[in-house]
Amino acid sequence: MTAIVGTDVNAAAERLRAGGLVAFGTETVYGLGANALDPAAVARVFEAKERPSFDPLIVHVASWETVSTVVADVPPTAATLTDRFWPGPLTLVLPKREVVPDLVTAGLPSVAVRMPGHAAARSLIEAAGVPVAAPSANRFGRLSPTTAEAVVEQLGDRIDYVLDVGPCAVGVESTVLRVDGDEVLLLRPGGTAVEEIEAVVGPVRMLEESEHPVARAQPAPGMLPRHYAPRTPIVMAADDAEPPAGRCGLLTFLPPADASGWAAVEVLSPSGDLREAATRFFASIRSLDGLGLDTIVARPFPEEGLGRALNDRLKRAAT
Ligand code: TXA
Ligand code: MG
Repeated sequence: MTAIVGTDVNAAAERLRAGGLVAFGTETVYGLGANALDPAAVARVFEAKERPSFDPLIVHVASWETVSTVVADVPPTAATLTDRFWPGPLTLVLPKREVVPDLVTAGLPSVAVRMPGHAAARSLIEAAGVPVAAPSANRFGRLSPTTAEAVVEQLGDRIDYVLDVGPCAVGVESTVLRVDGDEVLLLRPGGTAVEEIEAVVGPVRMLEESEHPVARAQPAPGMLPRHYAPRTPIVMAADDAEPPAGRCGLLTFLPPADASGWAAVEVLSPSGDLREAATRFFASIRSLDGLGLDTIVARPFPEEGLGRALNDRLKRAAT
């Protein structure tokens, strides 16, 4: 596949609605967008970026109506911030609604939302009629692109459309804040200056070194070993390993040769599709965790494509 580069908002929106990947310019950097409510489309984003982990993505919106479909609660402080800085380079992390897939938030109970300042980006989201999950449109470990050409160079062979809006005016990613009641926490410095934010809502708290890296969100929010771990201990074991003692659940990519001996089995993709496995991963762990088992045994994924990110997540959960 070779991406079409163009300025046709409706054509780009059509591809988003169809589950495709559309890179689009914003005032900060180009984003790699997918329908945020479609887990399979979001899985493709991770696949295209070759991110070796599942980091939570920003959900881009064009209206307040859409915010209320993905966010469960907007504290007054958050509303004050959006009144002043939206549309623009500010992202707020707020409690999420059920409809937002786990893959978008990496299993977190919160979702990051932003209304981009660039009018063309908002037109795209509006025309698509869905919230758009989008990390920066670079391959893992590479620079965030600020032109359509830079997107094509990195991802041109693996996305459907690049909406060319010209070079990005801001050029650095949005500032990410978490709002907890009255408290405002800086998770990532970016395109909206902290001084400007403090002028509106008072002191912004900086994260301590000791605080959770998901909260710190710099540079890789999934880095803390145990954050994604469920209450039930998880161990990783090879394909032919016997269940350990006690009531054990099995989390496996493919159906096991022998399912006897397991109190519960979660098969992530009977057909062996890593993308499908990614869309079921967090929910399957949660469902096993709800059974009061002694142990969850997880079988490693093939170390390729999204399997790498799934193994990374499993290793953290198993620590
Ligand atoms: O300017 C931007 O923000 C660009 C454009 C495309 O909008 N997007 C962007 O996305 O930079 P990304 O995925 O590269 O960065 C998302 C940031 C990460 O630092 C991530 O950890 C944080 O947002 N984040 C997202 N959801 C979060 C959550 N639920 N809790 C904490 N941090 C979150
Ligand atoms: Mg990025």
